[in-house]
Formats: sequence, C-alpha cells, structure tokens
Amino acid sequence: MSTVMLENESSAADQDLSEAPAIEKASYRTVGEIESANPIMSARDVQVFYGDKHAIIDVNLDIGANEVVAMIGPSGCGKSTFLRCLNRMNDTIDGCRVEGAITLDGADIYDKRMDVVPLRARVGMVFQKPNPFPKSIFENVAYGPRIHGLARDKYDLDEIVHTSLEKAGLLNEVKDRLDSPGTGLSGGQQQRLCIARAIAVSPEVILMDEPCSALDPIATAKIEELIDELRENYTIAIVTHSMQQAARVSQRTAYFHLGKLIEVGETSQIFTNPRHKLTEDYITGRFG
Ligand SMILES: Nc1ncnc2c1ncn2[C@@H]1O[C@H](COP(=O)(O)OP(=O)(O)OP(=O)(O)O)[C@@H](O)[C@H]1O
Ligand SMILES: [Mg+2]
Repeated sequence: MSTVMLENESSAADQDLSEAPAIEKASYRTVGEIESANPIMSARDVQVFYGDKHAIIDVNLDIGANEVVAMIGPSGCGKSTFLRCLNRMNDTIDGCRVEGAITLDGADIYDKRMDVVPLRARVGMVFQKPNPFPKSIFENVAYGPRIHGLARDKYDLDEIVHTSLEKAGLLNEVKDRLDSPGTGLSGGQQQRLCIARAIAVSPEVILMDEPCSALDPIATAKIEELIDELRENYTIAIVTHSMQQAARVSQRTAYFHLGKLIEVGETSQIFTNPRHKLTEDYITGRFG
C-alpha cells in the first residue's frame, strides 16, 4: 500500500499531537475533501474542551445529504465527542465547551435562539448500548411524536409507530406484542427499537455511536442493512471500531487521531489508498 504525503509535508506521526497547545490554528490541515456537494451539516474550526483538555482540535467537516459518513480512529481520539457536538449532547456534560461553527441546513445550531429539544429530534442519536425506555414497545416509539406534537390523533400516532417500526425492520417481529416492555426484546431488537424511536420524529440526521458493538454478527448484519436503506431518506454519521463495518456501510470515512481530523475521503479510497501515514498505520492495524 503506497503512502503519499500531499498536504501534510512532514509526517504527522513526527508531530507531538498529545502536547497540542490550547488553540493551534493552521498547524495541520486535514488531508482530503472536507466538503460535500450537498451538505446538511457543516462543522468549521470546531474545538471542544473538557476543562483544560483540548479534545477536538480544529475540525472541519461536512456531512452530505443521503450519505453515510463513518468516523474511525483509535480509542480516545474524539469520535464520540465530535459526534455529540452535532446535536449538542455535549451541553449536558459539565465543563465541556464547544467553539467554532456547526450548521444544520445553514443555521448555527449553537445560536442562543436554537432550541435544543427540536434540534435533537432533527438530529437524532442512537447509542452504543441500546437504551429503550422502561415502557412498552409502542410507547417507546410513540413518546417522541407525542412530545413534539407530530400526531394529529390516536390513529395518526398509531400510523407513525407502525411505519417507524417497519422502517427499522422490526415490525414483523413485534407487531403482536406492541404492549410488551421494550426492555424484554433481544439486544439487536432493542437497538432497532431505538432506531425506530429516532426515526419516529422524522429526523434529518441520525448519529450512531458504535451502534453494533453490543450485538452479535446476525443482529449487526441487520443493522448494517438497515443503515443502507435509511440512507435513502436520512443522513447518517456513524462511529465504529470495525473497519469492515465502515467499509460496508459508508460512502465517506473520516479518520480521527488525538482530537484531529487527519484524513477524510471516499470510503474506498481511505481503505485502499490512504494518503496520510497515520490513516495507513491505523487501517493496516499497525496502530490503534
Ligand atoms: N466527560 C468527559 N470529561 C473529560 N474528558 C473527557 C470526557 N469525555 C471524553 N473525554 C476525553 O476526551 C477525549 C476524547 O474522548 P471520546 O470519548 O470522544 O473518544 P472516542 O474516540 O469516542 O473513544 P472510544 O473509541 O474509546 O469511544 C479522551 O481523551 C477522553 O478522555
Ligand atoms: Mg466513543
């Protein structure tokens, strides 16, 4: 596999990334195309701090319509932190500060006037561990549309619940027991229930943080198929530790390293012909 250093003349491996000063603008440049032809979300000069710790350094990235962007990189490189910036989940963490600009359909999501409750419906999230509410299967999916006032009446709500379960590939398995607790489903079913819950409020973007890491290969395959189908209607950003998964489900891949977005490009290019040495070291298993 050839390594071509283009934008970054010196190997980034030579730089001491861990000793990064508080803000070191223009000290590195992401290799590859950070822009999308049709961006739904755009992050520009994003910095995230946990107290004094500079966890995300100068990240610029677009997430385009109907694409799946995979975020990969070694543990602790900032994948979850960056993902959480995209729907302001970091707001809930004490001492966490986000700088820079993140837009959704051109509007700054960190603007004071932006209400985070509807924002988190527009940019939904699916976590590593399935976390259904301690309620029935029906209520898990109905909850969001109800609090966001998306259903006109009981029949409408029923329709939204069924459609969401169908889109999440779960309806056939649960249609006869919608009143049973969501927590009584298998892990893979619970994760699809959480996806149905996210879809039920008609999001534009779905963020997934290692959604298959607690699942067996069969449940994982189902979720991966689902991600591919969901791409028709939604934009998806997925964090994964599985490079095979990133290669299977995504069109673009972003490689993070110690808080920096080192390289981004078409998934096939990243996995067959990475341009940055750090990306190559990671995907060839030499590191991480
Ligand atoms: N709540 C927090 N308070 C302080 N530091 C944090 C917090 N969450 C994350 N960090 C730090 O920020 C950095 C990035 O963490 P993050 O969880 O985003 O990494 P990650 O790439 O998702 O890792 P993993 O693959 O292990 O999930 C790490 O150094 C981590 O220790
Ligand atoms: Mg993480």
